Amino acid sequence: MPLRGRTIAVTGASGALGTALLRALHGQGAQLIALSTASEPVALSDGEGQTIPLRGLSWCCGQEQALEACLGEVDILVINHGVNVYGDRSAAAIERSLEVNALSAWRLLELFLRLPERPAGSPCREVWVNTSEAELLPALSPLYEISKRLLGQLLSLRALDRQGENPCRIRRLVLGPFRSALNPYGVMGAGFVAGQVIAQARRGFGLIIVTPNPITLVLVPVQMGLRHLYGRLFSRAAS
Ligand SMILES: NC(=O)c1ccc[n+]([C@@H]2O[C@H](COP(=O)([O-])OP(=O)(O)OC[C@H]3O[C@@H](n4cnc5c(N)ncnc54)[C@H](OP(=O)(O)O)[C@@H]3O)[C@@H](O)[C@H]2O)c1
Repeated sequence: MPLRGRTIAVTGASGALGTALLRALHGQGAQLIALSTASEPVALSDGEGQTIPLRGLSWCCGQEQALEACLGEVDILVINHGVNVYGDRSAAAIERSLEVNALSAWRLLELFLRLPERPAGSPCREVWVNTSEAELLPALSPLYEISKRLLGQLLSLRALDRQGENPCRIRRLVLGPFRSALNPYGVMGAGFVAGQVIAQARRGFGLIIVTPNPITLVLVPVQMGLRHLYGRLFSRAAS
Protein backbone atom coordinates (compact mmCIF):
# COMPACT_ATOMS: atom_id res chain seq x y z
CA MET A 1 0.00 0.00 0.00
CA PRO A 2 1.72 3.21 -1.08
CA LEU A 3 1.50 6.05 1.47
CA ARG A 4 3.27 8.67 -0.65
CA GLY A 5 1.06 11.71 -1.20
CA ARG A 6 -1.80 10.36 0.92
CA THR A 7 -3.28 12.68 3.55
CA ILE A 8 -3.05 11.05 6.96
CA ALA A 9 -4.51 12.49 10.18
CA VAL A 10 -3.35 11.17 13.56
CA THR A 11 -5.08 11.82 16.92
CA GLY A 12 -3.03 11.89 20.11
CA ALA A 13 -0.47 13.57 17.87
CA SER A 14 1.69 15.00 20.65
CA GLY A 15 2.03 11.65 22.47
CA ALA A 16 4.83 9.10 22.13
CA LEU A 17 3.22 6.93 19.46
CA GLY A 18 1.52 9.91 17.78
CA THR A 19 4.85 11.67 17.16
CA ALA A 20 6.58 8.41 16.20
CA LEU A 21 3.84 7.62 13.66
CA LEU A 22 3.96 11.15 12.21
CA ARG A 23 7.76 10.90 11.78
CA ALA A 24 7.53 7.46 10.18
CA LEU A 25 4.66 8.52 7.89
CA HIS A 26 6.65 11.58 6.83
CA GLY A 27 9.44 9.17 5.88
CA GLN A 28 6.92 7.41 3.62
CA GLY A 29 6.02 10.68 1.87
CA ALA A 30 2.57 11.17 3.42
CA GLN A 31 0.90 14.58 3.91
CA LEU A 32 0.32 14.93 7.65
CA ILE A 33 -2.43 16.36 9.84
CA ALA A 34 -1.71 16.35 13.58
CA LEU A 35 -4.94 16.27 15.61
CA SER A 36 -4.11 17.28 19.15
CA THR A 37 -5.84 18.36 22.34
CA ALA A 38 -2.63 19.97 23.60
CA SER A 39 -2.47 23.75 23.96
CA GLU A 40 0.87 23.91 22.11
CA PRO A 41 0.90 23.11 18.36
CA VAL A 42 2.67 19.86 17.44
CA ALA A 43 6.11 20.64 15.92
CA LEU A 44 8.41 17.83 14.78
CA SER A 45 11.80 17.55 13.17
CA ASP A 46 13.25 14.61 11.28
CA GLY A 47 16.55 12.81 12.00
CA GLU A 48 18.51 15.56 10.21
CA GLY A 49 16.97 18.38 12.24
CA GLN A 50 14.68 19.50 9.38
CA THR A 51 11.16 20.59 10.36
CA ILE A 52 8.53 18.09 9.27
CA PRO A 53 5.75 19.88 7.34
CA LEU A 54 2.40 19.16 8.97
CA ARG A 55 -0.94 20.82 9.52
CA GLY A 56 -1.87 21.03 13.18
CA LEU A 57 -5.52 21.01 14.25
CA SER A 58 -6.83 21.39 17.75
CA TRP A 59 -9.82 19.30 18.90
CA CYS A 60 -11.31 17.93 22.10
CA CYS A 61 -13.40 14.95 23.12
CA GLY A 62 -17.12 15.62 22.72
CA GLN A 63 -16.52 17.99 19.78
CA GLU A 64 -15.63 15.40 17.15
CA GLN A 65 -18.29 16.79 14.77
CA ALA A 66 -16.20 19.97 14.40
CA LEU A 67 -13.59 17.86 12.57
CA GLU A 68 -15.98 16.79 9.80
CA ALA A 69 -14.74 19.30 7.18
CA CYS A 70 -11.10 18.40 7.88
CA LEU A 71 -11.80 14.66 7.79
CA GLY A 72 -13.34 15.08 4.34
CA GLU A 73 -9.81 15.70 3.01
CA VAL A 74 -8.28 12.77 4.88
CA ASP A 75 -7.34 9.48 3.18
CA ILE A 76 -6.29 7.67 6.36
CA LEU A 77 -7.45 8.52 9.87
CA VAL A 78 -5.39 7.06 12.72
CA ILE A 79 -7.43 7.05 15.96
CA ASN A 80 -4.63 6.87 18.48
CA HIS A 81 -5.44 9.09 21.47
CA GLY A 82 -5.81 7.44 24.85
CA VAL A 83 -5.53 7.86 28.57
CA ASN A 84 -4.64 5.60 31.50
CA VAL A 85 -6.08 6.41 34.92
CA TYR A 86 -4.12 3.48 36.47
CA GLY A 87 -5.71 2.41 39.78
CA ASP A 88 -8.17 5.28 40.14
CA ARG A 89 -11.77 3.99 40.26
CA SER A 90 -13.58 7.22 41.09
CA ALA A 91 -16.67 8.24 39.12
CA ALA A 92 -14.57 10.92 37.39
CA ALA A 93 -11.96 8.33 36.37
CA ILE A 94 -14.66 6.03 34.96
CA GLU A 95 -16.14 8.87 32.94
CA ARG A 96 -12.74 10.04 31.66
CA SER A 97 -11.63 6.56 30.63
CA LEU A 98 -14.87 5.75 28.80
CA GLU A 99 -15.07 9.17 27.16
CA VAL A 100 -11.46 9.38 25.93
CA ASN A 101 -10.59 5.75 25.19
CA ALA A 102 -13.92 4.47 23.92
CA LEU A 103 -16.66 7.00 23.15
CA SER A 104 -14.69 9.77 21.45
CA ALA A 105 -12.81 7.18 19.38
CA TRP A 106 -16.11 5.56 18.41
CA ARG A 107 -17.66 8.94 17.47
CA LEU A 108 -14.65 9.76 15.27
CA LEU A 109 -14.93 6.32 13.67
CA GLU A 110 -18.64 6.83 12.90
CA LEU A 111 -18.02 10.33 11.57
CA PHE A 112 -15.31 9.05 9.24
CA LEU A 113 -17.36 6.04 8.07
CA ARG A 114 -20.30 8.34 7.24
CA LEU A 115 -18.29 10.61 4.92
CA PRO A 116 -19.57 10.65 1.34
CA GLU A 117 -18.09 8.06 -1.00
CA ARG A 118 -15.17 9.09 -3.15
CA PRO A 119 -15.25 9.17 -6.96
CA ALA A 120 -14.68 5.78 -8.59
CA GLY A 121 -11.02 4.96 -9.10
CA SER A 122 -9.70 6.95 -6.11
CA PRO A 123 -7.96 4.96 -3.36
CA CYS A 124 -10.34 3.85 -0.62
CA ARG A 125 -10.34 5.64 2.72
CA GLU A 126 -8.89 3.88 5.72
CA VAL A 127 -9.26 4.17 9.45
CA TRP A 128 -6.68 2.66 11.79
CA VAL A 129 -7.90 2.22 15.37
CA ASN A 130 -5.41 1.78 18.18
CA THR A 131 -7.09 -0.44 20.78
CA SER A 132 -4.39 -2.26 22.79
CA GLU A 133 -3.39 -5.67 24.04
CA ALA A 134 -5.49 -4.57 27.06
CA GLU A 135 -8.52 -5.39 24.89
CA LEU A 136 -7.86 -9.00 25.87
CA LEU A 137 -5.10 -9.18 28.47
CA PRO A 138 -4.64 -7.58 31.90
CA ALA A 139 -2.90 -4.19 31.89
CA LEU A 140 -2.88 -3.70 35.68
CA SER A 141 -5.39 -0.89 35.13
CA PRO A 142 -9.04 -2.04 35.24
CA LEU A 143 -10.58 1.08 33.69
CA TYR A 144 -8.02 1.11 30.88
CA GLU A 145 -8.94 -2.52 30.11
CA ILE A 146 -12.70 -1.88 30.29
CA SER A 147 -12.57 1.18 28.02
CA LYS A 148 -10.24 -0.44 25.47
CA ARG A 149 -12.41 -3.59 25.43
CA LEU A 150 -15.49 -1.48 24.77
CA LEU A 151 -13.75 0.24 21.87
CA GLY A 152 -12.51 -3.10 20.53
CA GLN A 153 -15.97 -4.67 20.70
CA LEU A 154 -17.64 -1.71 18.99
CA LEU A 155 -14.97 -1.83 16.30
CA SER A 156 -15.62 -5.55 15.73
CA LEU A 157 -19.34 -4.85 15.24
CA ARG A 158 -18.75 -1.94 12.86
CA ALA A 159 -16.18 -3.93 10.89
CA LEU A 160 -18.93 -6.43 9.98
CA ASP A 161 -20.49 -3.81 7.68
CA ARG A 162 -17.33 -2.62 6.00
CA GLN A 163 -17.88 -4.54 2.78
CA GLY A 164 -20.50 -3.53 0.25
CA GLU A 165 -21.71 0.05 0.52
CA ASN A 166 -19.02 1.17 2.91
CA PRO A 167 -15.75 1.50 1.05
CA CYS A 168 -13.68 2.53 4.10
CA ARG A 169 -11.11 -0.03 5.20
CA ILE A 170 -10.75 -0.58 8.95
CA ARG A 171 -7.44 -1.69 10.44
CA ARG A 172 -7.06 -2.56 14.12
CA LEU A 173 -3.78 -1.91 15.95
CA VAL A 174 -3.21 -4.28 18.88
CA LEU A 175 -0.04 -3.09 20.56
CA GLY A 176 1.97 -4.44 23.45
CA PRO A 177 3.67 -2.26 26.07
CA PHE A 178 5.87 0.56 24.77
CA ARG A 179 7.40 3.49 26.67
CA SER A 180 5.34 6.68 26.85
CA ALA A 181 3.71 9.02 29.35
CA LEU A 182 0.81 6.55 29.46
CA ASN A 183 3.12 3.59 30.21
CA PRO A 184 6.59 4.55 31.46
CA TYR A 185 7.48 0.84 31.94
CA GLY A 186 6.83 -0.30 28.37
CA VAL A 187 9.45 -2.66 26.98
CA MET A 188 9.33 -1.48 23.35
CA GLY A 189 10.20 1.96 21.95
CA ALA A 190 7.46 4.01 20.28
CA GLY A 191 9.65 4.45 17.16
CA PHE A 192 9.99 0.68 16.75
CA VAL A 193 6.22 0.20 17.22
CA ALA A 194 5.39 2.91 14.67
CA GLY A 195 7.76 1.31 12.12
CA GLN A 196 6.14 -2.11 12.62
CA VAL A 197 2.62 -0.68 12.34
CA ILE A 198 3.43 0.97 9.02
CA ALA A 199 5.28 -2.09 7.70
CA GLN A 200 2.29 -4.36 8.48
CA ALA A 201 -0.21 -1.87 7.03
CA ARG A 202 1.85 -1.67 3.84
CA ARG A 203 1.74 -5.46 3.63
CA GLY A 204 -2.06 -5.19 3.72
CA PHE A 205 -2.73 -6.55 7.21
CA GLY A 206 -6.11 -5.56 8.70
CA LEU A 207 -5.16 -6.86 12.14
CA ILE A 208 -1.84 -5.27 13.07
CA ILE A 209 -0.21 -6.82 16.14
CA VAL A 210 3.07 -5.53 17.60
CA THR A 211 4.03 -7.23 20.83
CA PRO A 212 6.78 -9.27 22.42
CA ASN A 213 4.06 -11.50 23.97
CA PRO A 214 3.47 -14.74 21.99
CA ILE A 215 0.14 -15.30 23.81
CA THR A 216 -1.24 -12.15 22.18
CA LEU A 217 -0.17 -13.35 18.72
CA VAL A 218 -2.25 -16.53 19.20
CA LEU A 219 -5.18 -15.24 21.28
CA VAL A 220 -6.02 -12.05 19.42
CA PRO A 221 -6.73 -13.55 15.96
CA VAL A 222 -8.80 -16.35 17.59
CA GLN A 223 -10.78 -13.85 19.67
CA MET A 224 -11.36 -11.62 16.62
CA GLY A 225 -12.63 -14.63 14.66
CA LEU A 226 -15.04 -15.60 17.45
CA ARG A 227 -16.30 -12.02 17.80
CA HIS A 228 -16.85 -11.84 14.05
CA LEU A 229 -18.93 -15.05 14.15
CA TYR A 230 -20.90 -13.95 17.24
CA GLY A 231 -21.61 -10.52 15.72
CA ARG A 232 -22.77 -12.07 12.43
CA LEU A 233 -25.11 -14.49 14.25
CA PHE A 234 -26.64 -12.12 16.79
CA SER A 235 -26.65 -8.63 15.22
CA ARG A 236 -27.72 -7.18 11.90
CA ALA A 237 -26.80 -4.20 9.75
CA ALA A 238 -29.00 -1.08 9.68
CA SER A 239 -31.71 -1.49 7.03
N1 LIG B 1 2.11 2.80 25.82
C1 LIG B 1 1.63 1.56 25.75
O1 LIG B 1 2.17 0.62 26.36
C2 LIG B 1 0.44 1.27 24.89
C3 LIG B 1 0.15 -0.09 24.57
C4 LIG B 1 -0.94 -0.35 23.75
C5 LIG B 1 -1.71 0.68 23.25
N2 LIG B 1 -1.42 1.97 23.59
C6 LIG B 1 -2.27 3.01 23.05
O2 LIG B 1 -1.49 3.83 22.19
C7 LIG B 1 -2.11 5.14 22.10
C8 LIG B 1 -1.02 6.19 22.26
O3 LIG B 1 -0.55 6.12 23.59
P1 LIG B 1 0.93 6.50 24.04
O4 LIG B 1 1.45 5.31 24.76
O5 LIG B 1 1.69 7.08 22.91
O6 LIG B 1 0.62 7.54 25.20
P2 LIG B 1 0.87 9.10 25.32
O7 LIG B 1 2.26 9.45 24.96
O8 LIG B 1 0.35 9.47 26.66
O9 LIG B 1 -0.10 9.68 24.18
C9 LIG B 1 -1.50 9.67 24.33
C10 LIG B 1 -2.05 10.94 23.72
O10 LIG B 1 -3.47 10.89 23.77
C11 LIG B 1 -3.94 12.22 23.80
N3 LIG B 1 -4.87 12.43 24.90
C12 LIG B 1 -4.62 12.33 26.22
N4 LIG B 1 -5.70 12.68 26.93
C13 LIG B 1 -6.65 13.02 26.03
C14 LIG B 1 -7.98 13.49 26.14
N5 LIG B 1 -8.56 13.72 27.32
N6 LIG B 1 -8.67 13.71 25.00
C15 LIG B 1 -8.11 13.49 23.78
N7 LIG B 1 -6.83 13.08 23.62
C16 LIG B 1 -6.13 12.85 24.74
C17 LIG B 1 -2.73 13.16 24.03
O11 LIG B 1 -2.33 13.69 22.77
P3 LIG B 1 -2.71 15.19 22.34
O12 LIG B 1 -2.31 16.06 23.51
O13 LIG B 1 -1.87 15.43 21.14
O14 LIG B 1 -4.17 15.22 22.08
C18 LIG B 1 -1.68 12.20 24.51
O15 LIG B 1 -0.40 12.66 24.24
C19 LIG B 1 -3.19 5.15 23.19
O16 LIG B 1 -4.44 4.91 22.59
C20 LIG B 1 -2.81 3.98 24.08
O17 LIG B 1 -3.93 3.46 24.74
C21 LIG B 1 -0.37 2.29 24.39
